Amino acid sequence: MNKQELIEGAKAVLNSNFNEDKGFTIPCEGLYPFQWHWDSGFIAIGFAHYDIEKAKCEIESLLSGQWDNGFIPHIVFHNESDTYFPGPDYHRSDLHPASPKPVKTTGITQPPVLGFVLKEIYDIASNKQDILKFIKRNIDKIYQNHTHFYTHRDPYNEGLVYIYHNWESGTDNSPIWDEIWQTMNPPKYKYERKDTTHVDASQRPTNREYDCYLHLLEIAKAHNYDEGKIAELSPFLVQDPLFNAILIKSNEALIELYQIIGGNNNKIEILKSWQDKAKTRFEEKLFNEELGSYVYYDLRNDKQIAYATSSSFTPLFAGIPNKERANKLVDSLIQNFGSEDLFLCASFDPKSEHYNPVKYWRGPVWINLNWLIYRGLKRYGYLEIAKRLKQETINYIELHGFYEYFDARKDQFENAAYGGKNFSWSAALTLDLLNE
Ligand code: SER
Repeated sequence: MNKQELIEGAKAVLNSNFNEDKGFTIPCEGLYPFQWHWDSGFIAIGFAHYDIEKAKCEIESLLSGQWDNGFIPHIVFHNESDTYFPGPDYHRSDLHPASPKPVKTTGITQPPVLGFVLKEIYDIASNKQDILKFIKRNIDKIYQNHTHFYTHRDPYNEGLVYIYHNWESGTDNSPIWDEIWQTMNPPKYKYERKDTTHVDASQRPTNREYDCYLHLLEIAKAHNYDEGKIAELSPFLVQDPLFNAILIKSNEALIELYQIIGGNNNKIEILKSWQDKAKTRFEEKLFNEELGSYVYYDLRNDKQIAYATSSSFTPLFAGIPNKERANKLVDSLIQNFGSEDLFLCASFDPKSEHYNPVKYWRGPVWINLNWLIYRGLKRYGYLEIAKRLKQETINYIELHGFYEYFDARKDQFENAAYGGKNFSWSAALTLDLLNE
């Protein structure tokens, strides 16, 4: 496929996943039939390259699911579908008094991409005046979302927020969580999984993992999604470097946008104070010298979870490390994830015994993580490795199409495509890479 064919293919995927009636885009037919939070952020970047109205619509339909307290959920259920479990009747957002009444949502969130997405869209848009109107209409909602995080998810006032569910991380079944699952003893719930009717079970989480996922939701629901109760009771409380790097990058973007808009000095000052605190603590708490990588922190059990993952490299995107530490990080990226037999960037340390090259977030390459790392490498001037990462990302799509995830092993390249087909963010971010 040449560049123009790839661009047209990406647009075709986005257009066919767009729900004209409700004004949002599904990540993938069958497998993910509703609106997902971070998916929509990446999708909006793709739309911005050729249909700015759809980009706006994507963001505003996601924000229609925002709660009165600023919380933005991980799924908004605008439509009915029986191809996904767990759906709206399981999640029961109505249990929380601040949830919106006209639309059902989940009571967990996802990486807070919207701040930096607004800035991306601003940069892409040709009519700056028009896009500024849109940004002015929505920016405070995102600011309120960040306020909610720092108010309710940062118990030690560190500038680092926690997640209380693996689905909040976006990296659903990473081996990072395995030890936490071992501390839990969930009942064997009765339910019918739908994901494994769309995708081979070897590429998806196990049933035991699903029981743990549901158990965390049961605890939250038993307390009507009360943040204080969840902090007290959830066996899963984790400070995630990917989630926090995205929040920090989104804070930075909000500062830049408020400066463009003018006024708003109070909010800019508050955002800056969050940034100072967050970056300092990120450096102190989430770097592992031995691995030369950023890692997750298990806040419930008060210890680092010492594994390198593709998330380890995303602090570059948010400008967190100094140059010396960035060098160390990039060395570890090249040595551990970029050896001669591998394409960049496996989602889990390929040298680890827990690495599984075909299973969802336990090893395969994801286009959105590659995009975040690519942007981070460019930000710091590591242009050679950035170029390699971009080319390898496009190679996957060129040979296989817009799949959900890919095998990092070079000798498996011919059969490297896994998960959902015609996956929206793979299309959207390919468009962005090609339009650079
Ligand atoms: N990605 C999750 C799933 O697989 C939900 O967010 O269902």
